[in-house]
Amino acid sequence: MAVQSLHGKVALVTGGSRGIGLAVARALVADGVQVAVTGRSAAHLSAARPKIEPAGPGSVETLQADVRRYDEVKRAIDATAARFGGLDFLVNNAGIGIFAEVAAITPEQWAEVIDTNLTGVFNACHAALPHLRRRGGGFIINISSLAGKNPFADGAAYCASKAGLNAFSEALMQEVRYDNIRVSYVMPGSVATGFSSGDETKGADWKIAPEDVADLVVNLLRHEPRSLPSRVELRPSKPRK
Ligand SMILES: NC(=O)c1ccc[n+]([C@@H]2O[C@H](COP(=O)([O-])OP(=O)(O)OC[C@H]3O[C@@H](n4cnc5c(N)ncnc54)[C@H](OP(=O)(O)O)[C@@H]3O)[C@@H](O)[C@H]2O)c1
Repeated sequence: MAVQSLHGKVALVTGGSRGIGLAVARALVADGVQVAVTGRSAAHLSAARPKIEPAGPGSVETLQADVRRYDEVKRAIDATAARFGGLDFLVNNAGIGIFAEVAAITPEQWAEVIDTNLTGVFNACHAALPHLRRRGGGFIINISSLAGKNPFADGAAYCASKAGLNAFSEALMQEVRYDNIRVSYVMPGSVATGFSSGDETKGADWKIAPEDVADLVVNLLRHEPRSLPSRVELRPSKPRK
């Protein structure tokens, strides 16, 4: 049963300028949360702000920060805590997919995927944990993928990054649980965003909507603290045959 009010809490959503992260930021603001969103592109961030701000009573901050760069992520997290007076929630959502056979993917592309989807999450957690501890607890939600448990051809980099993220999340969950910091990871199937095709309308008739992932994130944050849905799979009810 969801019991906790989120009003007045502070969250940072990485990759909150488009897709799932944008929907999560909107849902949090609608619940009265003060939200900072990050992304690489200043243009994406300024386009996102007017889509998030009117969603509700919470306020929003946009911060340019590449999750691959520890210094940039730390600066964004420290700035969020300074602006809103602390940090309660970290949603690690920023992620990319480059899909090619192992024989064809370049070492640079491999590093880009692993650095964003796996090391980027480490960077943000490492920078956020002191703030969550100062607050007496908090919640970290990592947006993984069903690709982390169902590997497929052409997906070695992406699937490995998400499988690594799943293991990272479970280890971290065990490290910080007695500090009142909860860690969950969500594994969505296909979500209707611009992620793989660049066209968010493609497959929107059968894919998960970004708002469905956002609902799940909000429900996790509101979940009764005595128990923890630590790993959640979310799939289209009727995937294309
Ligand atoms: N869409 C799906 O089918 C699906 C399924 C399962 C899991 N997921 C996961 O869900 C997450 C979000 O995906 P999405 O579909 O919403 O993708 P999306 O529409 O492409 O949005 C990705 C967001 O992440 C940001 N981003 C990318 N690289 C970044 C970096 N290095 N540092 C900071 N921000 C960065 C992007 O902004 P900038 O480009 O401006 O940096 C954008 O705001 C990813 O982790 C993805 O793996 C997606």
